[in-house]
Order: sequence, then structure tokens, then C-alpha cells
Amino acid sequence: MDVDVFTLFPHWFDWYRGQRHVTNALALGSTLECIDPRTTTPLSGGAVDDTPFGGGAGMVLRVDVMERALRERYGKDPVEVREERRVIALTPGGRLLDDALAIELAGEPALTLLCGRYEGFDQRIVDHFCSDEISIGRYVLAGGELAAMVVLDTVLRKLPGALGHVESALEESFSPALEGAPEYPHYTRPAEWRGWTVPEVLLSGHHEKIHEWRREQSRRRA
Ligand SMILES: C[S@@+](CC[C@H](N)C(=O)[O-])C[C@H]1O[C@@H](n2cnc3c(N)ncnc32)[C@H](O)[C@@H]1O
Repeated sequence: MDVDVFTLFPHWFDWYRGQRHVTNALALGSTLECIDPRTTTPLSGGAVDDTPFGGGAGMVLRVDVMERALRERYGKDPVEVREERRVIALTPGGRLLDDALAIELAGEPALTLLCGRYEGFDQRIVDHFCSDEISIGRYVLAGGELAAMVVLDTVLRKLPGALGHVESALEESFSPALEGAPEYPHYTRPAEWRGWTVPEVLLSGHHEKIHEWRREQSRRRA
């Protein structure tokens, strides 16, 4: 998967790029590029935003600045780019990220994520350049960078080879394997600690019973 992140703070992703499942995905052929719209802005002094029409606090990311950045990157009108790849605006009010959406995105060959800052995007960016709006939760972050990392985290770990154990991503909370329910509880050694014991069935070695117990626990948590 080729991922482009448009961000005014590309260095935020330096740490992220070094995380194990991300390095695994990159080693297996995925790419993660950060594009800073400030480097291509047509405005003087590296400006990227302006005051909102109608008044109000904060600054709004300009549509001409985002158009230039997308045009430089893809060599075409950004209105056409969203026909070829998912172009996602990260917004607090967008479609809520969940496992089903992560699976959907993991099936894409390429993603573009636009990180807002300040008051957010000029709405024309979202309306004309984006195919999706995604929110990571009903709260407001200072910028879209952490939201982009959250989206990518859940998407990249679903790519083949990104995790050490492929089963880890198959049977986990909200996965189709658990019919969308939260995962069952896990226990490890010691089998008893301060009188707190582990469910007998997990020590039984009886795989079918363990499987049934786990499904039941998962269903109960739903
Ligand atoms: C301070 S927020 C803007 C909030 C906007 N004025 C509002 O009230 O909806 C700046 C940027 O952070 C990102 N952001 C903030 N919260 C987010 C969330 N829950 N999910 C996804 N992106 C978010 C978006 O890219 C947004 O444009």
C-alpha cells in the first residue's frame, strides 16, 4: 500500500515510521510519504491558512494551498485524484473509524490522508478533493496527525506480514472472526497470584472446550 500524508508537521511521523509493524509494512513494499503543503504554497511567507469568512476564531486551511500541494504530488487536478485513490480528510465529524472501515481501507492499494490544523479545512477541500471524511472519535484533537497515525496503525497492522503472527489480527476485538464482539480475556503465568486463579478450562489442554469458552466470553462482552 502506498500512503501519502499531507501534513504541516511531517517530523511527527519520524517516530511513527520506526515502529515495528510500520517498519515491517515498509520492508514488505508499502510506502509512507509525508508532504508538507507549506513547501508548495503559492502564498508568500509560507502561509497556508487564512481567517474564516463570516468571522470567528482561528484560521482555516486554504483550498488553493491544498490544491497546489495535491497537484504537485499527483501531477493532475486533485478533483481527478480522488477517482483513483481514497483521499481522506481527517475531521472530528467524519465517519467513525471502526474495524470494518479499517478492513475496507486495508484492501486499498493507495491512501492519501489530509491532516487539518487550526480551525480545520476550507470545506471546498473536503467537498471537491476528498473521497472520505474519517473521525477517530467524537472529541477534538489539535491536529489531524495523531488521527492519521491511528488510522494507519489499524490499517497497516492488517496488511499481510506487518505483524509477527498473522493470527493476531485475524481473531481480535471487533474482527469478523469474533462476529464483531470484543475479544475474550487472556491469562498467562503464574496460574495463581494472590489467590487469583486462571479459569480451569484454559489449563485443560482441551482445544475445543477452550475455543467454546473463548467464544462465550467474547459474546458476553458484546
Ligand atoms: C482543532 S481541529 C478543528 C476542529 C474543528 N474546528 C471542529 O470544531 O470540528 C484541527 C484538525 O484536527 C483534526 N482532528 C481533530 N479532531 C479529530 C478527530 N476526532 N478525528 C479526526 N481528525 C481530527 C482535523 O484534521 C481538524 O481539521
